[in-house]
Amino acid sequence: MVSKLVLVLLLFHHVVIAQYPSCPDEERSALLQFKDSFTIDKSASRSTDAYPKVSSWKPAEGGNSTCCSWEGVECDEKTGHVIGLDLGSSCLHGSINSNSSLFRLVHLQRLNLSDNNFNYSQIPPRIRNFPSLTHLDLSISVFSGQVPSELSLLSKLTYLDLSGNVDYLSEDEYRPLLKLEASDLGSLVQNLTSLEVLSLIFVNISSAIPHSVANLSSLKTLALVDCHLFGEFPVRIFQLPNLEFLSVRYNQDLTGYFPEFNQSSPLILLKVSFTGFFGTIPSSIQNLHSLQKLDVAQCNFSEGLVPSSLGNLRQLTYLDISANKFGGLIPDSLANLTQLATFRISTSRLTGPIPSWLGNFSKLEYLDFAFNRLNGSVPASFSNLTNLQILYLHSNTLSGVVQFQIFQNLQFLYQLQLSWNTIEFVTESRILNSTVQQFTVLGLSNCSIGEFPSFLQYQKGLTRLEISESKIRGQVPKWMWNTSLETLVFLDISGNFISDQFPVVLPWVNLVGVRFSTNMFHGSLPIPPPTVLEYAASDNNFTGEISPLLCNMKNL
Ligand SMILES: *[C@@H]1O[C@H](CO)[C@@H](O)[C@H](O)[C@H]1NC(C)=O
Ligand SMILES: *[C@@H]1O[C@H](CO)[C@@H](O)[C@H](O)[C@H]1NC(C)=O
Ligand SMILES: *[C@@H]1O[C@H](CO)[C@@H](O)[C@H](O)[C@H]1NC(C)=O
Ligand SMILES: *[C@@H]1O[C@H](CO)[C@@H](O)[C@H](O)[C@H]1NC(C)=O
Ligand SMILES: *[C@@H]1O[C@H](CO)[C@@H](O)[C@H](O)[C@H]1NC(C)=O
Ligand SMILES: *[C@@H]1O[C@H](CO)[C@@H](O)[C@H](O)[C@H]1NC(C)=O
Ligand SMILES: *[C@@H]1O[C@H](CO)[C@@H](O)[C@H](O)[C@H]1NC(C)=O
Ligand SMILES: *[C@@H]1O[C@H](CO)[C@@H](O)[C@H](O)[C@H]1NC(C)=O
Ligand SMILES: *[C@@H]1O[C@H](CO)[C@@H](O)[C@H](O)[C@H]1NC(C)=O
Ligand SMILES: *[C@@H]1O[C@H](CO)[C@@H](O)[C@H](O)[C@H]1NC(C)=O
Ligand SMILES: *[C@@H]1O[C@H](CO)[C@@H](O)[C@H](O)[C@H]1NC(C)=O
Ligand SMILES: *[C@@H]1O[C@H](CO)[C@@H](O)[C@H](O)[C@H]1NC(C)=O
Repeated sequence: MVSKLVLVLLLFHHVVIAQYPSCPDEERSALLQFKDSFTIDKSASRSTDAYPKVSSWKPAEGGNSTCCSWEGVECDEKTGHVIGLDLGSSCLHGSINSNSSLFRLVHLQRLNLSDNNFNYSQIPPRIRNFPSLTHLDLSISVFSGQVPSELSLLSKLTYLDLSGNVDYLSEDEYRPLLKLEASDLGSLVQNLTSLEVLSLIFVNISSAIPHSVANLSSLKTLALVDCHLFGEFPVRIFQLPNLEFLSVRYNQDLTGYFPEFNQSSPLILLKVSFTGFFGTIPSSIQNLHSLQKLDVAQCNFSEGLVPSSLGNLRQLTYLDISANKFGGLIPDSLANLTQLATFRISTSRLTGPIPSWLGNFSKLEYLDFAFNRLNGSVPASFSNLTNLQILYLHSNTLSGVVQFQIFQNLQFLYQLQLSWNTIEFVTESRILNSTVQQFTVLGLSNCSIGEFPSFLQYQKGLTRLEISESKIRGQVPKWMWNTSLETLVFLDISGNFISDQFPVVLPWVNLVGVRFSTNMFHGSLPIPPPTVLEYAASDNNFTGEISPLLCNMKNL
């Protein structure tokens, strides 16, 4: 019995030792020095899953310890050399330069420093010290300056990601921190012939795309989003035999066109939106059997009708062809795209009715047909779109009565925009109690609602409420002055017949725009919060002096 236990323990002991090779002291101390050169700062990483992996890194305590057991460290099984360092989302904050002890890990094959904060450090040219490197991920890590030309010496690289090194000016405004010289991109692409992933999102390249990219025969992912690219997109890139993900969105000065697509193309994602891509969408696009996401919004494509060949891309989950010159009816072939989660054809020349077969698109989350010439009614079948979150149908010529009940069971719906049609929106107050969904955007301008819909009183998170020119008469319901007080940013109740007095101060503390012109408001002008940029009050029956508080508003 005793001997069996000893044997088991021995076996167990053996297994533990064997699992981790021992790393050379030199590499262990290099790692510890590297760890000590940073502060741990939760806010240095953006991911909610971030945590300091280096916390488990401890110097040897008497017994046998190997850095190969440390979190994020990978060693070669035979030699014990550190060959992988994965410190993605590790809350590291501090600078890094060519003197860093990191560069003593000369056997590194994979280095991931993504989602930390390197405090505007340059990418150290000594990166050339890693001749075996195959994976380099320096994305979203506050690196800045020139991308060093030494990168093109890393001829074994298959994975290179320098994306997202930006300064956030606000939530959706940013400035690129990394700059890549055209010539450096050229040599990078010419030398790194094994690249499978090249991701340079938000890197300021400011040049044309080198034709040699089309020689990267292993390339699977090419992401050049918002790189200030110009010139013509080398069309041969589309023919790369392994290319699955291609995005060149947000390069307004980049032109290009789609070639005839080949059955053998493995493309899964194709996004060229907000570029100068032009020409037609060839019907051979239907050959892209693997395509799941197609985004050509805001380009210069034109061919009259919405291409019916798109209807053959049955595995599409994402389709956005907005803001090109497509027009005509929504083709029936699109009825086969039942996997769509996002479907957008806004700002185009669509005519005719909204097809009721859209009600079968049970996975639809985002439907946007705004700014077209669609007529007819809002299909009752929309009540079957139980995953719908966003519905934009504003600025069309839709007509008829729209019952709120259509949307009542769409529990995820939080943005509903029906403004600027000629529909009549009807809510039955009886069934609209506090169980109604919470909206952030609600647009019912020109929808003849006749009164403030009673379900507004349960809305706690509205950011945008448009109910102008909607035949609203009488007073503002008391509860309205208590609705979405913290969240409302834009309120438009202009062009109605509202006869009421405002409270002295508008109750919505974060308003940026407010319009109540062309009504019958009386009393004195209300004081908006200091955040307001737009304040439209004309054509009412206000009296008294204009408060100096109003005159002194800086932003107005
Ligand atoms: C540590 O382990 C290695 C082999 O795994 C062995 O050669 C060495 O003697 C051990 N050192 C100590 C101090 O136990
Ligand atoms: C690097 O780490 C991040 C965050 O953990 C992860 O999302 C990313 O996929 C990793 N990169 C590579 C190349 O494995
Ligand atoms: C980041 O850089 C600034 C300016 O060089 C310096 O003052 C600051 O201490 C650095 N922060 C960290 C965490 O190293
Ligand atoms: C690197 O270290 C050397 C010697 O310690 C020093 O002279 C040099 O200024 C350091 N370079 C940087 C970029 O810190
Ligand atoms: C390309 O790689 C070769 C071999 O590694 C190297 O000699 C050459 O300098 C590299 N070219 C550039 C432009 O980095
Ligand atoms: C990008 O780089 C170009 C050329 O160096 C420069 O003129 C431009 O201002 C940079 N753009 C941004 C947004 O930093
Ligand atoms: C692509 O590779 C071929 C064969 O190696 C070479 O002849 C050609 O010049 C390369 N094209 C570019 C644009 O680099
Ligand atoms: C499709 O592409 C493959 C690989 O690039 C090529 O061999 C084949 O000839 C092409 N077929 C057509 C019809 O263009
Ligand atoms: C749509 O699917 C049906 C049923 O599979 C098929 O018969 C029809 O040809 C498809 N239409 C298009 C345009 O792909
Ligand atoms: C909703 O879907 C069901 C089942 O497919 C169908 O019977 C019903 O008619 C649809 N409702 C509407 C309003 O189209
Ligand atoms: C609210 O309306 C729903 C749907 O008509 C109904 O089932 C529920 O009982 C009502 N709840 C309250 C508190 O009135
Ligand atoms: C505007 O106010 C004046 C004076 O208080 C009143 O006589 C008039 O009827 C009001 N006009 C409207 C349209 O409410």
